[in-house]
Amino acid sequence: MKKILLTGSSGMLGNYIVKLLEDNGDFKIISPARLEFNISDTHKIEAYIKEIKPDVIFHLAAETNVDLCETNPKHALIANSLSVEKISKIANELSSYLVFISTSNVFGAKSSLKYNELDMPDPVNYYGKSKYKAENFITQNNIANSLIIRAGWMIGGGAERDKKFVGKIIQQIKDGNTSIKAVGDKYGTITMASSLAKFIIKSTQDKLIGTYHYSSQGLLTRHEIAKIILKELKCNASLLETKSCQFPLPAPRPLSEGIESLYLDEKDGIRHYEEDLHEYIKEFK
Ligand SMILES: NC(=O)c1ccc[n+]([C@@H]2O[C@H](COP(=O)([O-])OP(=O)(O)OC[C@H]3O[C@@H](n4cnc5c(N)ncnc54)[C@H](OP(=O)(O)O)[C@@H]3O)[C@@H](O)[C@H]2O)c1
Repeated sequence: MKKILLTGSSGMLGNYIVKLLEDNGDFKIISPARLEFNISDTHKIEAYIKEIKPDVIFHLAAETNVDLCETNPKHALIANSLSVEKISKIANELSSYLVFISTSNVFGAKSSLKYNELDMPDPVNYYGKSKYKAENFITQNNIANSLIIRAGWMIGGGAERDKKFVGKIIQQIKDGNTSIKAVGDKYGTITMASSLAKFIIKSTQDKLIGTYHYSSQGLLTRHEIAKIILKELKCNASLLETKSCQFPLPAPRPLSEGIESLYLDEKDGIRHYEEDLHEYIKEFK
């Protein structure tokens, strides 16, 4: 039985991985909470991992608050980059297979609408910069035994756990809000956390290495996501399209965080966003 060290198990994606591996006899999963394994405490990371000697590391824990990364770039560097430098070096020493989840935020400065695996990263904010630096540490330290997956706007968690965009809009509808606002001038692609979790496990069994983009097909805005939610929930609330400049935030957002893959397709669980959102919103009914 292979030992998997999973960081970030309480997060949106980590939770799906825990559920999928619960009944899998091939893997034993070790998923420390922040108190035991803190990515900002890089000195302790080495001793913890060396004690466990995992065959596989799924490194999901990260500082995912984009605006906090912008206002505290040192924190972003430590939590998102230097932790990965340590982890990738130790993975190399232990010959552990490493899966790292990066982000479409490594792109943006070119103002393209979609980026594929051949496009060069050019992040516009410190969150994206810190994740790109982490990718580079992996490439330097453990390239022959690592998988880097860049995800888009992560969708998941369902009624109990979704505190992100879809969850917030559905909550507003449940609260009886009759006027919903959503930004219509920033683009992205969504990533279904449940599909990505399955892809990570399959890729581990196949020992896939390299850098891949994992997202649903089709580019959309948050306004378009909100429109789909209202339609799926047969809600009559009015939907107002707003501009991002009406919600000034510390971190600059690129025109588009859209990604697509030159390698992956339907066989890897990739579907059109309409199909994915339709299935996901059903979880809330
Ligand atoms: N969410 C997105 O839209 C998105 C898009 C692309 C890529 N990603 C990447 O995908 C991965 C998983 O994202 P997610 O959406 O599942 O994240 P999430 O829901 O925001 O959860 C973040 C996870 O990281 C843990 N964490 C944060 N700071 C930590 C620290 N100092 N020490 C230890 N653990 C810490 C959290 O633990 P606590 O429970 O203790 O807070 C939580 O388990 C991340 O690497 C993220 O960068 C996310």
